[in-house]
Amino acid sequence: MDWYNLQDNNSQTTPSAGTLKDNMKIGNTTVISFINLKGGVGKTTSAVNVAATLARRDFKSGDKSTKPASVLLIDLDPQSNASLTLLNKKQYEEIDRTNKTLYQLFDNEISRDDDSETFDLGDIRVTPIEGLNLDLLPSSLKLIDIQDKLVGYHRYYLSATDILFNALNKLKNPEGKAYTHIIFDCPPSLGLITLNALSLSRYFIVPTLLDAYSHWGLDKIVECVNRLKRCKASCEVELLGVLYSKVDPRSTIENYKWDIEFQKWGTEFDEWLSKNIRTGKGAIIFKSRINSADIIRKAEADNRPLIEYHPSASNLRSEQKKHQVEWEELVTEILERIEYRRK
Ligand SMILES: Nc1ncnc2c1ncn2[C@@H]1O[C@H](COP(=O)(O)OP(=O)(O)O)[C@@H](O)[C@H]1O
Ligand SMILES: [Mg+2]
Repeated sequence: MDWYNLQDNNSQTTPSAGTLKDNMKIGNTTVISFINLKGGVGKTTSAVNVAATLARRDFKSGDKSTKPASVLLIDLDPQSNASLTLLNKKQYEEIDRTNKTLYQLFDNEISRDDDSETFDLGDIRVTPIEGLNLDLLPSSLKLIDIQDKLVGYHRYYLSATDILFNALNKLKNPEGKAYTHIIFDCPPSLGLITLNALSLSRYFIVPTLLDAYSHWGLDKIVECVNRLKRCKASCEVELLGVLYSKVDPRSTIENYKWDIEFQKWGTEFDEWLSKNIRTGKGAIIFKSRINSADIIRKAEADNRPLIEYHPSASNLRSEQKKHQVEWEELVTEILERIEYRRK
């Protein structure tokens, strides 16, 4: 496969633990990007529902203690679908009109002089659902224009891909503590804004459809990520898993056929991973899968992740319960994989 050859002479492969490398870490926060170069594959739905499901969980942290998750969801897609899923249209329009979005961070960074204060992300953070440990940094369509302006950005030795890292390092959750998890919903492109997310992520998850075309996109993503890692030694992002999303449970033969193709890709990737990265092992395709279900769209229309959707009709309530199980299983698998890689 192509990506074997991308690791030129192994000189710039992901270093094993213990290598002297100043990684882009935000304290002990686990940072995960949901990414795929294709649109409509379930990136946003996965980022939102994983973030919300995780926010109701206790998890085992690096020091082996168990604590409640405190999650920050960052909507990096100018289409703003994650923001529009968690906020109603009126709330979102007001936020966008008053520039309380990530646009403000990048715009401020481009236009400020060296001595002025850097942007405080706390000024744009919202908590969309009361009582849920999930905060959101909303996006804006205006991010499209910023992307072009970022090309010429430099400040001392900082590059345009470090802007989010610097800003996030100063951000605490509303209780004044560090977030335990940061989740990025990325646009279907690898522009400078997406590179900001990948640069500081520890893991990336690729939601994909089980069909003929999606399979071919995987090499492309891994190739792009490896290119970024070659250019930026401090970037340590690794593939945590490929997630089958919007699976039609009735297309069993088709699903089986494309699953075989993905698994073949996964096996080759696993072999490469275990040879090159100390912590790499285990199947790269998630066992959990997310089936296609209308209830997910209904929850979205109500501006809620599935876990927080409580319809009054009993048939909808049982659909909600049934499908939330899939997100619960996925989050358990994500946490297990992270724990395993940590060892
Ligand atoms: N499991 C699912 N079941 C039904 N519809 C889904 C599911 N996942 C996503 N969708 C719908 O598919 C569309 C694309 O999903 P989205 O998560 O926005 O993809 P992406 O972010 O990759 O573009 C959205 O309209 C969303 O409501
Ligand atoms: Mg999206």
